Amino acid sequence: MSDTDRKTVLTAAQPTGILTIGNYLGAIKNWVSLLDDHDCLFPLVDMHAITVPYEPADLRKRTRSLVAQYIACGLDPEKCTLFIQSHVVGHTELAWVLGCLTPIGELQRMTQFKDKTAKGAPINSGLLFYPVLMAADILLYNADIVPVGEDQKQHLELTRNAAERFNHTYSETFKIPEPKIGTTGARVLSLQDPTRKMSKSDDNQGAYILLTDEPDVIRKKIARAVTDSGSEVKSGPDKAGVANLLSIMSGFSGKSIEEHEAEFVGKGYGDFKKAVGEVVVEGLRPIREKFEEVEKDKGYLDGVLKAGAENAQKKAYKILSKVQRKVGFVERFR
Ligand code: TYM
Repeated sequence: MSDTDRKTVLTAAQPTGILTIGNYLGAIKNWVSLLDDHDCLFPLVDMHAITVPYEPADLRKRTRSLVAQYIACGLDPEKCTLFIQSHVVGHTELAWVLGCLTPIGELQRMTQFKDKTAKGAPINSGLLFYPVLMAADILLYNADIVPVGEDQKQHLELTRNAAERFNHTYSETFKIPEPKIGTTGARVLSLQDPTRKMSKSDDNQGAYILLTDEPDVIRKKIARAVTDSGSEVKSGPDKAGVANLLSIMSGFSGKSIEEHEAEFVGKGYGDFKKAVGEVVVEGLRPIREKFEEVEKDKGYLDGVLKAGAENAQKKAYKILSKVQRKVGFVERFR
């Protein structure tokens, strides 16, 4: 495939700590499968991370750690552009322009905004504006495909609306990006409450598994995972806990859920959970080992981030200057 035929893929995660297996199965694993045939950009969205209370020193540490986690998960920097959002001029500039076209009501309707504000935390306007910045992340590179977990679907819809609105108001500029939501692992659920998504911000550490959890910790968390009444290892609407574990197992093993169900006919939850634990431990082992090696290598990580930002900036300037011209800004004197 020639470079010009390659579609652009862009997606991102917030540097909020060590990723969970939800991020890995629901997101990163799918991104890795796109590297060979697409032009892939993966910003580390540090500007999104300051919409909620945080510690500056932690943010810096977590951003660097996330690059190492990405590489450990298989995002080879030779095959994609890994960069820090705040290193590239254009994300906030474009967000401003798109924000001036986005009705407030559309932002207030976002379920993630409603969830976060319902928790009673102080609300800043960045939190409300967050999806517009996300739209800018995507449109600044005219991405064709945006692989995300199901929880980001609504933000993607807003991005598509923003692109259409800009094209309609000014002239055809942005492609309308397509969300790509994986089937297996699109929504990895909490191990303690399988009605909610697995999230590292959960107060209960038993609810999630981190990429760097030690094998024994993983085994324990899975052994304590909430299962359902009955004893049959089968996925189904009234079996959310078992279905979640089956989906996690299938995400790591590459086998289908039905194959795993067949393995456990006549066996109980105890055997099943032990097997899930081993599959997760073995699946995460190479990731944890690579992470430990890469995280220590500051020079290598700096090099990856510098090259990534340069590459992204070149692309970003092209669209940004087009946008600025169309909205009527006087061209910059260079
Ligand atoms: P974030 O940082 O919350 O999550 C990163 C990605 O992981 C997916 N994900 C999950 N998938 C399945 N099951 C789960 N339990 C689970 N938890 C997280 C998310 O869907 C996401 O794909 N707003 C975004 C970051 C962002 C972005 C962007 C994404 C900013 N700009 C541009 C795509 C394109 C977010 O907070 O993701």
